[in-house]
Amino acid sequence: MNVLVLLGSLRPESTNRQLANAALAHLPESARAHVSTLPAGLSFYDESLDTDERRPGLVDAFRAEVAAADAIIVVTPEYNGSVSGVVKNALDWASRPRGAAPIAGIPALVLAASGSPRGAQWAREAAVRVLQIAGAAPLAETLGVASSYAAFGAGDALLDPAVDERLAAVIGQLLDAARTPAAA
Ligand SMILES: Cc1cc2nc3c(=O)[nH]c(=O)nc-3n(C[C@H](O)[C@H](O)[C@H](O)COP(=O)(O)O)c2cc1C
Repeated sequence: MNVLVLLGSLRPESTNRQLANAALAHLPESARAHVSTLPAGLSFYDESLDTDERRPGLVDAFRAEVAAADAIIVVTPEYNGSVSGVVKNALDWASRPRGAAPIAGIPALVLAASGSPRGAQWAREAAVRVLQIAGAAPLAETLGVASSYAAFGAGDALLDPAVDERLAAVIGQLLDAARTPAAA
């Protein structure tokens, strides 16, 4: 099982990075998983660059990384009521070429951490919609961590056991979806 994490916050102290680490801690030891460093370096999506002659090499590397994933976890902050631009741009690149998009059919889970009490609900809803339209297979269920600046302890563990149990449950759903071939 190869799990790819797309993280929408670039800052080192990111609470979403802590949430990504908390999620990775629930994966079985047999899983290979990593937080991609490539989205931060991708240029803004430009259709005129998306040709065999002009496409940046990093795009090919990112598309290969996505295509090799059995499951994707999107972890995004909420910026002005929506998904982070870093994640949106990465998903735009992963959604092309039409008809052969590397992200097509890959089960995906959306997580978000926010200092607000709503747990970045709008960002989560936006991320699910983008994933659906890009052709991935997002779970309907998402998980938002509210009041995120006080939500994590040592080793980025979630302090609220109920939230951590929900995180384990949605990770379990994602792994089940990745093990179950999509209906033709
Ligand atoms: C440009 C900008 C817009 C933001 N808009 C929202 C928002 O709409 N809703 C919200 O809950 N938080 C909003 N925030 C706060 C972020 O969710 C908060 O900074 C969050 O902790 C960032 O995630 P990180 O800790 O992973 O970097 C915004 C922050 C920035 C910088």
